[in-house]
Amino acid sequence: MILLGSLVLSACISGGPEWYPLSSLDLAPMRQGWGAPAKNMAVEGKPMTLGGKRLENGVGTHAPSTMWLELGGKAERFTATVGVDDEVMGKPGSVVFKVLADGLTLFDSGVMKPGMQPKQVDLDLTGLSKMLLIVTEAGDSIDYDHADWGDAKILATAAPSTMSAPAEDRVVLTPKPLPTPRINGAMAWGVRPGSPVLYTIAATGERPMEFRADGLPDGVTLDSRTGRLSGSIAKAGEYPVVLHAKNAKGVAERTLMLVCGETLALTPHMGWNSWYVWENHVTDASMRAAADAMASTGMIDHGYMYVNIDDCWAIKPGAKDPLLSGKERDERGRINANGRFPDMKGLTDYIHSKGLKAGIYTSPGKLTCAGFVGSYHHEAEDAARFAEWGFDFLKYDWCSYEDVSGGHGRAELRKPYELMATLLKDQPRDLVLNLCQYGMGNVWEWGKEVGGHSWRTAGDLGGSFEGIASAMFRDGFGLAERAAFSGPGGWNDPDYLLLGYISNWKGSTSPTPLTPNEQYTHVSLWCLLGAPLIFSGDMTRLDEFTLGLLTNDDLIDVDQDVLGRAGSRVAMDEATATEVWAKPLSDGSVALGLFNRGEFEGTVKARWIDVGLSGPRAVRDLWRQKDLGQFADGFEAVVPRHGCVVIRVK
Ligand code: GAL
Repeated sequence: MILLGSLVLSACISGGPEWYPLSSLDLAPMRQGWGAPAKNMAVEGKPMTLGGKRLENGVGTHAPSTMWLELGGKAERFTATVGVDDEVMGKPGSVVFKVLADGLTLFDSGVMKPGMQPKQVDLDLTGLSKMLLIVTEAGDSIDYDHADWGDAKILATAAPSTMSAPAEDRVVLTPKPLPTPRINGAMAWGVRPGSPVLYTIAATGERPMEFRADGLPDGVTLDSRTGRLSGSIAKAGEYPVVLHAKNAKGVAERTLMLVCGETLALTPHMGWNSWYVWENHVTDASMRAAADAMASTGMIDHGYMYVNIDDCWAIKPGAKDPLLSGKERDERGRINANGRFPDMKGLTDYIHSKGLKAGIYTSPGKLTCAGFVGSYHHEAEDAARFAEWGFDFLKYDWCSYEDVSGGHGRAELRKPYELMATLLKDQPRDLVLNLCQYGMGNVWEWGKEVGGHSWRTAGDLGGSFEGIASAMFRDGFGLAERAAFSGPGGWNDPDYLLLGYISNWKGSTSPTPLTPNEQYTHVSLWCLLGAPLIFSGDMTRLDEFTLGLLTNDDLIDVDQDVLGRAGSRVAMDEATATEVWAKPLSDGSVALGLFNRGEFEGTVKARWIDVGLSGPRAVRDLWRQKDLGQFADGFEAVVPRHGCVVIRVK
């Protein structure tokens, strides 16, 4: 018999089933998006209250939340009263409670909001072995998602126990690059007439390697040792250049389309951004170290090229730290970098000397999101300054422009971006413009029109460390409906690749909270979306697994495919949360992603008919880079929890 306060929770029949309150179990393995699980309290430690009624017993949590339980076939019943705690009454919280067991969904509350009447759960658990209690953020943000498993208890003949999510090995699927040459990365490159060309041929294979390029336009030369193209093209036009890479083991050949005209970003950007590792303590040294690592780890050989400073390089008004304070602008109105960036031109020269490109960040507002000087009323000086410093990329982040925008109508939303894009076009070098305003006003519908080359489609993927997986599933899979808006010259940007070591927002970095399978899903989905591949973890702590995720050339080829069609969902099974995505490729083949968003392993089948094909068709497994043979009418795979399989169908 279990006594809780004065409450008698079970009749005492020796050997018979007993009620085990959820709150009596070890809650340490429980995971949630904010705060810590609270026993017999709401998540903030206040009395648990649902629909005006005080509950003495239960577990208070915060979406997204997962609790795995081992039942071992000994449980009979689960009962609970669920809802959003009254402590967030009047606030915009919204959650969904789900109970799953052995691959089945036993309960789905639908969307629940503060003030709604709680829902009763009463489930038969007979014979089941593993149960999962989930609270999702109901497709929006996790703000105010205070969720209560009120009076939750399990009737069982042996005590259930909580456990961690099933462990996954960090299996490295990407084969090591071969010693023979292979040319990788973007096979279409846009440059404006007269702008400096800086394009490094990305090639894996044993060094030394000798490069050759046939059909180079006038004004462009190749360094045969480094594989770098430089110079400039005077005349607009399309120049197919046949690239060759030769080493002691063999030769590779691939055609690069150099397109001289007004369109940049013919394929999604690839590179690295400082934000999720260095946040507000980024320095010149951390940028140089990132550039060094992009070369030394070989990422450059797979097509990564931008090394981008995010927020926090300018002066911070009111800062106590002498390195961050000082004169915001010089007498000519030109923006100053803070003391952590003593020589911006020296920094971009350094990045360029590695064959890479450099990016910078600012806001159209008076201040950036982290409170550093922004470009408001100095847009022209800043565009010129960034070009003069030698930058090739600008991320333009809405932030405090909110205070001066005058609203969120299309005109107000477009205005600052249109202005900056026009100013950048006047510069004597090409700067790619990344719009960062979190998807407001359906930016994908007009981002390209105002001169953007990519636009963030949602808020920060990693705004909450624990919430990265749910944000990745929500924002990434949510782009299925927006595929038509992404393509050469302007790309949907669901934010950075949050892999390896990233900020835990507690002053240091931690390994990404994504499970190994979630990490494969993250990269696969981004490649199928044709999203920018901008890694934002610690470049100096890349292990074999993370590097494998970032440098699979078969996957990168899907992302960088010159057709530039974004992939989208072609089939879905709601019950098992599995789906199939397809991205048409320039050679007539199709990349297919078989995804399992569900909590249990499941079989996913991609049918040729769903993508307008008929069989038999040759299939290649892209992560393993292995041809699998011919398949008659489709391809079926057992896909792990939150994992995926990506194939190319010829
Ligand atoms: C956010 C932006 C992040 C990062 C941050 C810097 O608004 O979405 O990607 O740039 O600002 O303060």
